[in-house]
Amino acid sequence: MLLPGDGIGPEVVKEGRRVLDAIATRFGHRFVFSEHLIGGCAIDAHGVALPDDTLAACRTASAVLLGAVGGPKWDDPKAKTRPEAGLLKIRKELQLFANLRPIKPSPHLLDASPLRPDIIKGTDILFVRELTGGLYFGEAGRKPHASGEEAWNVMIYNTGEIERVVRMSAQAARKRRGRLTMVDKANVLEVCRLWRSVSAKIMAEEFPDVKYDVVLVDAMAMHLLSRPRDFDVVVTENLFGDILTDEGSMLTGSMGLLPSASLGTSGPGLYEPIHGSAPDIAGKGIANPLATILAVAMLLRHSLGLEQEAATIETAVDAVLAAGHRTRDIAAGKHSIGTEEMGAKVLAAMA
Ligand code: IPM
Ligand code: MN
Repeated sequence: MLLPGDGIGPEVVKEGRRVLDAIATRFGHRFVFSEHLIGGCAIDAHGVALPDDTLAACRTASAVLLGAVGGPKWDDPKAKTRPEAGLLKIRKELQLFANLRPIKPSPHLLDASPLRPDIIKGTDILFVRELTGGLYFGEAGRKPHASGEEAWNVMIYNTGEIERVVRMSAQAARKRRGRLTMVDKANVLEVCRLWRSVSAKIMAEEFPDVKYDVVLVDAMAMHLLSRPRDFDVVVTENLFGDILTDEGSMLTGSMGLLPSASLGTSGPGLYEPIHGSAPDIAGKGIANPLATILAVAMLLRHSLGLEQEAATIETAVDAVLAAGHRTRDIAAGKHSIGTEEMGAKVLAAMA
């Protein structure tokens, strides 16, 4: 299922699809595509950010590839609904509680990061962001207040929600370097004290072989910039994960390089670049399609079990970067190529 969405979404999803077509030809698969509306374009067409037919179609798909949602056109604070509501709803409805965001700077792009190469070199982190709980989905409201108004969002998690995402993270750690870090704010928040106790219990009982530690979120924001190499798998609640992964993307040089996979225990996975709809460059043909192309690799690996095909894409992306091809976001002011051209380079490298 293709959900191109808004802004640069359609441009980057188009390149993702071209890569899937090339994989089909090369490995003798047949992928059946269909396309639906989500986000601002769905609000324009149907008045809702996630139309019923989009959700129903996604439920029957093997996997979903999403571009991005949102843009200034739908930013009116008084609007009844926002594009982002579509994204939150699809995550919740498909029960995609674990959002995998790998951060592994390319050795060919060490100079694209604002951080020193000696700090980021060798970094290989898998962030697992809880995706269907916390402040994003807790009760919210507003009421009059003597000074004007007051507003609230409730941060809420239950044992089961914590267990399943910690378990999935620990399983991932086992297949990697065997280390899991849980990030919280347990010195202040009750919710995080629950995360701490539930997580410690799971780790002790089920994963004694995985080296486990906890780090406070403010400290993590700092460690991510000073010693990123020290982390393997990092699991955290929804909002902390949202913030830390944007920060982490700077280790790679650009948000345009980071893919993500949102998984549940059953049903289709949802794959998307972590960047947004980038309205400032939409329609210009200059967006970096590599995050989406790498999301396609994750889709093949996690939803279709096609490891060799996934690795083929990742190797091709690496070769393209090694050859010096750059979209504007990673060109450091030097010569750059457009979205389609970058897609074509990946296709050529796959061949
Ligand atoms: C992300 C985005 C979304 C989020 C927005 C668009 C709702 O920032 O996928 O990280 O906050 O989850
Ligand atoms: Mn985000």
